Amino acid sequence: MKIFLIGFMGSGKSTVAGHLSKEINLPYIEMDQQIEEREGMKISAMFEQFGEKYFREMETKFLETLKEDAIISTGGGVVVKTENISHLKKGFVVFLDVSWEEICSRLENDTDRPLWRGEDSEKKKRYEIRLPLYKSAADTIIHADTKTPQQIAREIAGRL
Ligand code: S3P
Repeated sequence: MKIFLIGFMGSGKSTVAGHLSKEINLPYIEMDQQIEEREGMKISAMFEQFGEKYFREMETKFLETLKEDAIISTGGGVVVKTENISHLKKGFVVFLDVSWEEICSRLENDTDRPLWRGEDSEKKKRYEIRLPLYKSAADTIIHADTKTPQQIAREIAGRL
């Protein structure tokens, strides 16, 4: 079985994936990390040198070639291409729903993410555009503002 964790940057996908992996004894894969390894460069460098469009192509390629059963912590922008949604549908899709205010407080000191560098209004717009996309791609939605990653992992395990 494939379990895709989707949600905005800072929603806790990677941390939850780690806990869920122990909870249900299924390996987890970090999509961004796999792309970095395949390409031999950091995501931020990829954005700088080749642009966002190139990175989005790498995300699609990852999903197309994914064979193994695993928990997959996706990148926050995985839902922006309709093509990707059809790949996600091959698994169970969990949306970690975190409010804009909570995302901002979690990413306050983040300097690593290329799409968390612009104007606040631009970032908020991206969040608002993506929210309905996450919701419609999801098989289940977890409200994750105030829960610990362990609680979230247990909640997901109970919904499988
Ligand atoms: C992105 C989110 C990042 C990473 C890339 C683009 C996005 O992943 O894939 O920087 O478009 O939201 P995280 O959601 O793990 O931060």
